[in-house]
Amino acid sequence: MLELHNLSSDNERDIDRLIGFLAEYDDPGVRMRPRDAVDAALETGLALALIRDGKILGCSLVYDFFENVDGPVFSEIGTMRVTLNGQGLQNLLSYFHLVQISLEDDFSPDHNVFAVVQPNTASEHNLKTKVGMKPWQPPEVLQRLRRSAGVPFAAEKYCLVAPPNCRKAAFKNLRDLLIGDRLFKTPKGEGRLLIKTGWFSNDLLDIDFDDD
Ligand SMILES: CC(C)(COP(=O)(O)OP(=O)(O)OC[C@H]1O[C@@H](n2cnc3c(N)ncnc32)[C@H](O)[C@@H]1OP(=O)(O)O)[C@@H](O)C(=O)NCCC(=O)NCCS
Repeated sequence: MLELHNLSSDNERDIDRLIGFLAEYDDPGVRMRPRDAVDAALETGLALALIRDGKILGCSLVYDFFENVDGPVFSEIGTMRVTLNGQGLQNLLSYFHLVQISLEDDFSPDHNVFAVVQPNTASEHNLKTKVGMKPWQPPEVLQRLRRSAGVPFAAEKYCLVAPPNCRKAAFKNLRDLLIGDRLFKTPKGEGRLLIKTGWFSNDLLDIDFDDD
């Protein structure tokens, strides 16, 4: 059974498996981040991995950027890599990120969730047409934060942001895929995904919230 787990910065095995997976399935679409950025992304508790029989088949991390605790927060969904293709698993990972982030930040309008994509790629297609993210010009403060983190925006890529209705759609999309206790069908194909993250329970998907 394919399982979804949050990876933990406290678990050496998780870190080693993630680094090993990204090295083995190196792809030009995935920018290698400085190790401290990967460690920080694991510390958020938001890192996701698709695991079957102990082997990672997909992952997605969230990198937070902010200047100070009172200012806006920018969460980048990045390092998305899926090797079990054709089942819509990038979309599932995105829905779970949006749900987990929305629950943790109380749907704060000051919290921008974004991704960086290359035109004419599967990732751009998925995030725009299935997840509902929209093209977005990153503000100067985020451009500065990315530069100082050693990951300036690349000229050949652009940003997508998750508007409030896209976060809301993530809850609905997951409700539509739910088939049992913490059990989902995959958006495409006959796959099944069991959720093993500590925070998730089916009733969380019934939470409704305002669009603004
Ligand atoms: C991007 C990635 C995560 C998607 O994997 P996945 O969830 O298994 O994707 P799927 O196979 O389910 O779906 C791919 C979709 O993209 C479409 N697609 C494939 N290549 C495409 C292209 N060049 N341009 C537009 N659409 C494309 C497919 O037709 C399919 O669309 P459909 O579901 O509407 O039929 C995976 O391909 C990957 O790891 N790529 C390399 C790393 C990468 O680019 N990561 C993203 C960084 S932001």
